[in-house]
Amino acid sequence: MLKTAICDLFGIEHPIIQGGMAHLGTAELVSAVSNAGGLGIIGAGYYQPGWVRQQIQLTKQQTSKPFGVNIPLTSPFTEQVIEVVLEEKVAVITTGAGNPETYIPRFKQAGIKVIPVVASVALAKRLERAGVDVIVAEGTESGGHIGETTTMVLVPQVVDSIQIPVVAAGGIGDGRGLAAALALGAQGIQMGTRFVCSDECIAHPSYKQKIREADDSSTVVTGETTGLPLRSLQNQLTDQFLALEKAGASKEELELFDRGRMYLGLIEGDIEEGSLLAGQIAGLIKEIKPVRVIIEEIVAEAETIITGLKNFYRED
Ligand SMILES: Cc1cc2nc3c(=O)[nH]c(=O)nc-3n(C[C@H](O)[C@H](O)[C@H](O)COP(=O)(O)O)c2cc1C
Repeated sequence: MLKTAICDLFGIEHPIIQGGMAHLGTAELVSAVSNAGGLGIIGAGYYQPGWVRQQIQLTKQQTSKPFGVNIPLTSPFTEQVIEVVLEEKVAVITTGAGNPETYIPRFKQAGIKVIPVVASVALAKRLERAGVDVIVAEGTESGGHIGETTTMVLVPQVVDSIQIPVVAAGGIGDGRGLAAALALGAQGIQMGTRFVCSDECIAHPSYKQKIREADDSSTVVTGETTGLPLRSLQNQLTDQFLALEKAGASKEELELFDRGRMYLGLIEGDIEEGSLLAGQIAGLIKEIKPVRVIIEEIVAEAETIITGLKNFYRED
């Protein structure tokens, strides 16, 4: 059976983390992932602390396995959400969109494992020194907010730069991706887009369908001018957003234009006017399946690939 350092560290069966996803990382998806042997992560997004507490409590009712909470550091409720997570004694915190350094001592004191998501070697090194347990190295292929370096390039360089375990994220959707991540030196994978197309994810069916129809070039990056680039499926919204950026719209104008679009796309299923976050791996995802099947198929495929690689060796 495929086991890595992160299985031991988190007490999970498979080295697979479901990336925190705003609006979609709810108790349904999180408990399904944890019950299937992965690590489910609640997406706190920009939700109020009360909502986060409710999702933590619901998840605890639906699984006795470890799970985590993702806190985007750009949330206006970061401080209060951290209080909730400490009170509820959640096993793991992942952070996105920023540097969590100042919060690390509090998490460590509470015995919570900290996994920042980073897009550069420099930040990975800095956060290892600050005492985090694992680094998720996320490539630019990912859905959501992204950096500039690809997973293939970023992961081995992060692995070589730090001592703690590294998890690869961005562009992984099947067992080939898991096997490749392990070959690059990662101890596991984090996936977002693949889990959107699961039975248990509350994403709107029209958005899931758009992912299934996607090909390798269906995503675009908006927000380069705001300093917070975002990858999503191309639609009327991204066309309009890019046109506004080209015309020199200010950060404030763009924020106003974008307000509420994520909920509109992901939950209400407005596939033209809403924001449909997705990674480049969308082109590989053709079926909506139960979380348990997704995880079991990925692990089985990776195991077959890894044991089969020795066939490349020849006597002559
Ligand atoms: C719909 C969606 C919402 C996301 N929301 C967040 C978020 O709130 N916080 C965060 O750190 N990452 C977020 N991500 C990134 C994922 O946690 C994960 O790292 C990423 O999806 C991995 O790349 P992949 O999409 O190629 O699997 C989001 C991704 C998607 C697709």
